[in-house]
Amino acid sequence: MINIIKLGVLSVLLAYAKADWPIDLLEEPIYRNQVDDTVYRLPEELDPIHYDIEITPYFEATANRPAFTFDGIVTIRLRAVQANLSALIIQENVREILSVTLTDEANVPIRINTANPFERIREYHFLKINLADGVTLVNGQVYLLTVEYIGNINETPLSRGVFRGNYVGDDGRLHWYAATHLQPTHSRQLAPSFDEPGFKSTFDMIVNRPASFGETFGNMPIRQTIQMGNRVKEIFHRTPRMSAYLLTLHISEEFTVIADNNDTARPYRILARPNARGQGEYALEVGPPITRWLENYLGISYYSMEENMKNDQIASPFWASGATENWGLVTYRELRLLVEEGETNANDKMTVGTITAHELAHKWFGNLITCRWWDNVWINEGFASYFEHFAMDGVDKSLELADQFNIQYMQSALSSDASAGTRALQHTVNSPTQVTGHFTGISYSKGAAFLLMLKHFVTENTFKKALNYFLVDRSYKHAFPSDLFNAFGRAVREDGTLASGFNIEHIMRFWVEQPGYPVLNVEVDMNTGVINLRQERFFISASTQGTLQVWPIPVTYTRGNNPDWNALKSTFVMDSRSAQIQKPAGREWVIFNVQQQGIYRVNYDTQNWQLIAAALSKNVSSIHHLNRAQIVDDVFALMRSGRMTYNLGFQVLDFLKQDTSYYSWYPAITGFTWLRNRFLHMPDVLAEFDEILFGYLNALITDLGYEVVPDEPVTRTLNRFFALTFACNIGHEGCVRDAAQKFNALRTSGARVNPNLRRHVFCTGLRKGGYEDWRFLYERRRNSNNQADDLAMLRALGCTTDNRARQEYLEMILTDEVKAQDTVNAFTFFYMGDRSNARVALEFLKPRVEQVRQAVVLPAWFDSVLSNLASYLDEEGLQDMEQWLNANRDTIPNYNVGLSAISSTRANMRWGTQNANIVLTAARGAAVVVLPTTMLFLSTLFALLLK
Ligand SMILES: *[C@@H]1O[C@H](CO)[C@@H](O)[C@H](O)[C@H]1NC(C)=O
Ligand SMILES: *[C@@H]1O[C@H](CO)[C@@H](O)[C@H](O)[C@H]1NC(C)=O
Ligand SMILES: *[C@@H]1O[C@H](CO)[C@@H](O)[C@H](O)[C@H]1NC(C)=O
Repeated sequence: MINIIKLGVLSVLLAYAKADWPIDLLEEPIYRNQVDDTVYRLPEELDPIHYDIEITPYFEATANRPAFTFDGIVTIRLRAVQANLSALIIQENVREILSVTLTDEANVPIRINTANPFERIREYHFLKINLADGVTLVNGQVYLLTVEYIGNINETPLSRGVFRGNYVGDDGRLHWYAATHLQPTHSRQLAPSFDEPGFKSTFDMIVNRPASFGETFGNMPIRQTIQMGNRVKEIFHRTPRMSAYLLTLHISEEFTVIADNNDTARPYRILARPNARGQGEYALEVGPPITRWLENYLGISYYSMEENMKNDQIASPFWASGATENWGLVTYRELRLLVEEGETNANDKMTVGTITAHELAHKWFGNLITCRWWDNVWINEGFASYFEHFAMDGVDKSLELADQFNIQYMQSALSSDASAGTRALQHTVNSPTQVTGHFTGISYSKGAAFLLMLKHFVTENTFKKALNYFLVDRSYKHAFPSDLFNAFGRAVREDGTLASGFNIEHIMRFWVEQPGYPVLNVEVDMNTGVINLRQERFFISASTQGTLQVWPIPVTYTRGNNPDWNALKSTFVMDSRSAQIQKPAGREWVIFNVQQQGIYRVNYDTQNWQLIAAALSKNVSSIHHLNRAQIVDDVFALMRSGRMTYNLGFQVLDFLKQDTSYYSWYPAITGFTWLRNRFLHMPDVLAEFDEILFGYLNALITDLGYEVVPDEPVTRTLNRFFALTFACNIGHEGCVRDAAQKFNALRTSGARVNPNLRRHVFCTGLRKGGYEDWRFLYERRRNSNNQADDLAMLRALGCTTDNRARQEYLEMILTDEVKAQDTVNAFTFFYMGDRSNARVALEFLKPRVEQVRQAVVLPAWFDSVLSNLASYLDEEGLQDMEQWLNANRDTIPNYNVGLSAISSTRANMRWGTQNANIVLTAARGAAVVVLPTTMLFLSTLFALLLK
């Protein structure tokens, strides 16, 4: 699954550039381990070998079936793996269980308790089948368990399981479809099953679809079709041996193939609603080469994983996450698969490529081998996220995805893993809520970043070999991290990649089992060339108590007199708290973590920071662009955590006034936004800070210009996209003027706006404009046929400051014009669009709590609405909201979430009030790089360290 991202709070599932996030709320989310929750887990008494599942869906009510339900029959061939079982326990979360029967392998019935044949233990989603008194299963014997049941076709994708969606066809009619989203704990909604990743089986599926519908799409091709009156029986080929969450079905009137490589040996198809024809070309262009690249890299062919293997990708207008890796039929939210040239922006288009790579990588990591349990979901998601960038990079270098990995994943790992409450990659989870909660930042970003660090450490050839050993060994089975460690141990020893004495298994285990990561403190004695290193855990909050953890850090570094930016293989692993290394004596900067390929931050002594600042101010290019990105990201984090003064930090950051690199600016916008968000309540401070920011932005904007240049590098287009959005949002005059002019030209003469400029142009146009402007874009959105473009306009509609438009926007969120999956974001777009909108949203919300709760579907999403709202309110608004929540504790069960967001927002303001002078002084007074003339201070320190 690609589950990316959060808007302020955990688990809202749309992808945003990090620089684009709104005000952050939960500085330190706390994850609690509830050990006794193992009751949610299935006992390991039975081994499911094979399933036969037959589904008959009802899209319209019949005499004895409500609409949007389905009849199901499942027969599970299972083996008892314990003696003397008197009951069978499996998982289900269906509408109704009708009957249960059990036979032995020869179809001889096994007697079931007639008084109490089965119990539904709803809290744990268990179905317990009770055998008759005295009857027990024989260890090692095979049985056939058959359950007849009725299932639900849920109203929104957010409930997962089997759900329904629709779209308006070219005939103007609403067309329905049913789809499945079973990951991670919802195959139990499709059929009673062993719904844990460690249980693997083969599946034979049958669907009796309405005869008026089109062909059903499933994991495998259809083997046989039988006409049966007003239904058609579709019998599918058998799946590979796999976990139940990878099952899928897509039953629709007319979803169809919109792009096809016409290769019967290596079929690759893009499926979608028929009126999306023409939007599947890009997905088809990238998918087959990525598949080929992964096959070559991993040494296992996709199309021979099972007979009749297909490789379909389907675009679902409704989808809860970004995409899900169902074997043979990956489902994507439409905007993550379809590209309309001229309408979809470069960022969304690039994401189609990377998400395709992510989902295809899952065919090996996730489908072929699967984490034993979701405590190690990083084995699925870490690899998929790693290859998301590196497999796509293998087929299209022009996107610079290897470099973009740093800002998208490495730095996001460093950011999400810096709180006291962070979890290790391997982390105990049991209940469905805990499981879903582990499908977040760390498992993806730190998992992927760990693999990158590992690749450099063992070298790429050994890395590939180890992955192949791991996959071959665990194919069609589940895997523990130890299986991966062993595969690396074997490959490293065979290749002799590491000096003897290195224990790769130990190094890997430490990174997987420990939460957090280190900061490396570096002190250089320029006279002697001795470098003292000291590591400790990095916490973003200065007040967090330190720990005793000591990481095995594969250290890399280079130095000013002889820079080597390709020194990516570490010279040594630092596995003690402090260490000393030697460089040639002489006055020069050193930079550790070359190209930021390792999971650690670096802090230097003042002199070295100043040497870096001096080098950058003389010639920005003298330091590698990925280390400039590292410096920006580390400096902001070091300042925030109290490890570096704002004066020193801004001296270093001064080079941004000359640097126009996307890689420097992506973390810079995030860092500046973090500070600026804390000054919003102080107009004078804000005005001065913005002036300073304009000073930083000038060279960048002059260099990028306000127009997209044909054939420029994609990262330049992206850089402009994010930079102008930031600049216009903070009121940069040139940006606002140009955007307003472009928006007017669009309105008055229909002058096209390049999709890569629309985010800031549309938003600025509406923020400055009136009701008619809003209405204009509203109509334009209604006519859009591309979801990326549609969402871009929804976002812009939230920027309005016109009172009538504000009301209509908010009302629209509660209608079908905004899909359930977009509702929380639609609210957030509104506050992000203009901060004054938060008060309007609060007034809107007060009398409509119930309606809004229903519109956002999930309780956690309503939490997000409350907390995001609080984060944008001013003090007056906060008081208002606080009063309202306190007065309505009975009707707003999550009032405490709102109250805690209010106190976070106040804490942010307080931080701003306390630090405004320090930050302004530092930011104002930068540029003066004073190098210390004496080494006295450092030598003293050096002497102390040697004791
Ligand atoms: C199973 O039950 C039988 C009969 O009660 C008993 O003899 C045997 O020891 C039991 N086996 C196990 C493994 O509990
Ligand atoms: C596959 O065949 C269809 C129908 O002939 C054609 O329109 C399409 O362009 C072909 N696809 C490719 C990639 O050649
Ligand atoms: C800046 O540094 C780069 C990399 O060392 C070098 O190629 C370039 O010539 C330098 N530019 C100037 C103006 O010195």
